[in-house]
Amino acid sequence: MTPEINAALSGGVLTLTLSRADKKNALTNEMYGALADAIESASTNGDIRVVLIQADGDTFTAGNDVGEFAAQAMGNGPKERHVVRFLHALANATVPIVAAVQGKAVGVGTTMLLHCDYVILADDAQLITPFVNLALVPEAASSLLLPLTIGHARAFEMFSLGEPLPASNAVAWGIANKAIPGAQLRAEAQRIAEKLATKPQGSLTAMKRLMRDAAKLVAQIDTEGTTFAERLSSAEAKEAFMAFAQKRQPDFSRITRQ
Ligand code: COA
Repeated sequence: MTPEINAALSGGVLTLTLSRADKKNALTNEMYGALADAIESASTNGDIRVVLIQADGDTFTAGNDVGEFAAQAMGNGPKERHVVRFLHALANATVPIVAAVQGKAVGVGTTMLLHCDYVILADDAQLITPFVNLALVPEAASSLLLPLTIGHARAFEMFSLGEPLPASNAVAWGIANKAIPGAQLRAEAQRIAEKLATKPQGSLTAMKRLMRDAAKLVAQIDTEGTTFAERLSSAEAKEAFMAFAQKRQPDFSRITRQ
């Protein structure tokens, strides 16, 4: 397990803490691998009754490491992309997943929440899905789950404009259960997770299976993955990643649709 993912099991709750605060918890391939291992193990290890995902620092996560996106776009990505295993593990998870989110949750930071069963936001939380701004497409089955959760109009707006959705709207639209002061976030998430850990495990698992069609979610993740890979190697995406590295706004005006 990389030090950038902290895993601790106590009282049936496996707490996974994103711990790369200096880079706003941007997720690397190694971090995805550690998260995938942990969530996969939760489905086979009966001692794990609930998974709780939280993050250090002021940002839940800045999403996928953009440097790694750029390397992939240049054909220098890792041989095994653990993000796929992570997304499949989320979709296939049999135990309830609780999330505690403060600050910005960018890209997969937001889309992973759609696989969580109980989401608590700090009042300052902002959900941001800038896939189109990066010349990419939504992933993690969010092209299915987000419109299903909040309706096409709002999902289209979030995906295409990439503007931050405040915590209050995320709660009102059904993406999250509640928004609370940041100082209470961890304790409240722990309380909910511990409460869920006391419930009958078989019943919770069966309920979750009825509520989420894992096979359909995995199929959507894979379909999105194909398009995502195509977009990643586009001229538009190269411009977007170069602009990020050069700390400037991208200019897509000279690139016509490919
Ligand atoms: N990948 C790699 N590094 C990232 C990152 C990412 N997704 N997000 C932030 N970082 C790094 C920055 O490059 C910076 O590194 P440096 O200190 O070596 O220069 C450090 O984290 C702090 O980020 P900074 O941008 O200075 O913090 P901020 O508070 O001004 O802004 C964000 C925070 C999250 C709004 C901003 O960093 C951002 O927009 N990141 C990109 C998000 C993104 O597009 N993710 C992909 C989603 S599909």
